[in-house]
Amino acid sequence: MTKNKKVFLNGEYIDADKANVSVMDRGFLFGDGIYEVIPVYQGSLFRFDAHLERLENSLNLTRIENPYSRDEWREIMLPLIDATKDQYIYFQVTRGAAEKRDHAFPIGVKPTVFMMCNDIAPFNDKEKGVKAISVEDNRWSACNIKAIALLGNILLRQQAVENDCAEAILVREGYVTEGSASNVFAVIDGILITPPKNNFILAGITRDVILELAAANNIPCAEDIISLDALKMANEIWFASSTREILPVIELDGQPVANGQVGQLWHQMNNLLQAYKMTYATSEK
Ligand code: PDD
Repeated sequence: MTKNKKVFLNGEYIDADKANVSVMDRGFLFGDGIYEVIPVYQGSLFRFDAHLERLENSLNLTRIENPYSRDEWREIMLPLIDATKDQYIYFQVTRGAAEKRDHAFPIGVKPTVFMMCNDIAPFNDKEKGVKAISVEDNRWSACNIKAIALLGNILLRQQAVENDCAEAILVREGYVTEGSASNVFAVIDGILITPPKNNFILAGITRDVILELAAANNIPCAEDIISLDALKMANEIWFASSTREILPVIELDGQPVANGQVGQLWHQMNNLLQAYKMTYATSEK
């Protein structure tokens, strides 16, 4: 842990190594909480309102009280940020620490709020592409909630890692849902496709940005179902997330994606995204 790194916990900024929560916290006992991850490019919170809208949605669906207004959330974030770097804000809200362990909601308990800011570690050799495996999506059916209970995602990601892959592509009843910590895009017959938003995927903010950039630049795109069979024939496959941006996949289940080279559309979209990030950072300051 970086020395003197400050984090925010329940109303205070404290040294990370002194930040403690109760063992009775429902986040610890049950994974009963939700979270958000917001990229911060040179001090500017990327798509702050979209992330806060998703946070509010996760809180509503789990019936956890939102302790702060959007302006208050922003005020809390700012002191943690170093504007000279690219970073990300991680924050979570749990249902709080009750007196006893009981599955039902406790009464009169305040949510626990934790926030930290970390550097975005550059993904080395992104241009070389990564390997992926397909795995059965055995998670629950409320994946639209950004829940801190990530055991399902963790086990699937670990399967990928143990197969020398960067990410797992999750497949439910023969159709792609998303990655273990990302959304999935494929280029099939010249069209950029990503599975539609529903309760089996997390509605990624990066996903929305890519769809917007595609529409604005006359790149044919669609939100549509993708079978695993179709994915195996795709010209390009990408992962999209706040911390990894867009990652091209060059190998799926040990077979090359198309000719095994990073695709042309990925290069185009990556350039568009990098340019958009720059203009966003400048215009928001
Ligand atoms: N995860 N789907 C899942 C299951 C995810 O965990 C994530 C991101 C995404 C992409 O969402 P976004 O574009 O808004 O980052 C999709 C974050 C980065 C994490 O858990 O660290």
